[in-house]
Amino acid sequence: MSSSNKLTFTVQPGGKLQGHLRVPGDKSISHRSIMLGSLAEGVTEVSGFLEGEDSLATLECFRSLGVKIEGPTQGRVTIHGVGLHGLKPPSGPLDLGNSGTSMRLLAGLFSGQAFDVTMSGDASLSKRPMRRVTEPLALMGARVETTAEGTPPLKVHGGQSLRGIDYVMPVASAQVKSCLLLAGLYAEGSTCVTEPAPTRDHTERMLRGFGYPVKVEGATACVEPGGQLTATRIDVPADISSATFFMVGAAIAPGSDVTLQHVGINPTRIGVINILREMGADLEMSNEREVGGEPVADIRVRHRPLRGIRIPEDQVPLAIDEFPALFVAAACAEGETVLTGAEELRVKESDRIQVMADGLIALGVDARPTDDGMVIQGGPMGSATVQSHGDHRIAMSFAMAALRASGAITIEDCANVNTSFPGFVELAAGAGLKIQQR
Ligand code: S3P
Repeated sequence: MSSSNKLTFTVQPGGKLQGHLRVPGDKSISHRSIMLGSLAEGVTEVSGFLEGEDSLATLECFRSLGVKIEGPTQGRVTIHGVGLHGLKPPSGPLDLGNSGTSMRLLAGLFSGQAFDVTMSGDASLSKRPMRRVTEPLALMGARVETTAEGTPPLKVHGGQSLRGIDYVMPVASAQVKSCLLLAGLYAEGSTCVTEPAPTRDHTERMLRGFGYPVKVEGATACVEPGGQLTATRIDVPADISSATFFMVGAAIAPGSDVTLQHVGINPTRIGVINILREMGADLEMSNEREVGGEPVADIRVRHRPLRGIRIPEDQVPLAIDEFPALFVAAACAEGETVLTGAEELRVKESDRIQVMADGLIALGVDARPTDDGMVIQGGPMGSATVQSHGDHRIAMSFAMAALRASGAITIEDCANVNTSFPGFVELAAGAGLKIQQR
């Protein structure tokens, strides 16, 4: 472990959040902009790109595959697309760091190439389940090896002829859906993926933005091979998952009033808004517009006391990355909050049910983890040292908890905040959070 992995946040209690803030670009859209821009014919210009470690891992990966990419410079990236069949074999294994999205989507994309690719990742990614993509890819005729446990590294054997499948996903996962649609660009016949509940649809939207037809009927998305992607411009909105920390911070801290600017409000991502509103939060959207096929808005959040709720299960996939922060909101709410149907949280960058419960309990909160969620009684929070387990969203959630704690919160192992939110400490401190890092 390098010394940078030892980064610690110390957050003094109290304070409030204020100001107009723009959080960094959407991680999911940033990954896809590099992938599709590389496979397109012509030059794609991206603005608002997330310069975080995860999306930069995807960018470096395509450079290793022979794609000329300029930037990022202040969020601007220029991608000289090589076409669907123009990628070159990399000179060695690709290291995707902490990024599950890169690995799962690229497993599909690489299955359609003529060459072999090996992908590895950091300690967290090396524990994450990959059979959810390798099994359906095998049904398409792909050959992707994992460890005996079904975890990375992944070795993707190129030169296979893929055939389209009709796949009904057992879990609601945008990563699995996207992986299969990308493999489908290279398969014979149509590839259709049916999801058990709506998940983020950035891949479908962006394929269309590049002029590649995607047929969506109800819960099923289908692609046919033989099309081509045509270079385009992409304006990446601010990431609603990063905005979430400020939305929750402002909702729980008396006197707060923040406006998050240019936030992506794709209907498959707004679970956090729906859940916070049901808890009684004062959230106001303005300046709603559409930018490059994705809806965006400014979101103003002012403090108002929250109440505990039973979180509707249909909101779970729409807020899947927001639960660490929502657990903090629940701890600050009046009454009980119950989450069920969220077992996926156990296989994210950390086991987000256990790790959040451990931290909340250390802070004196009555938090009871269950197999598929948590039961939290709102109440006072004290002071503690909590472990983020290298999970960016856990670190940022406990940082916001300090706004309502009676003593300082120290959060260990915070370097991975840079995977999704470079500049978090500076932005949060500027808005009023009493945060320091060392
Ligand atoms: C993502 C999909 C989600 C999400 C992840 C990003 C994507 O994962 O948790 O942070 O960009 O497709 P799952 O598809 O595994 O739920």
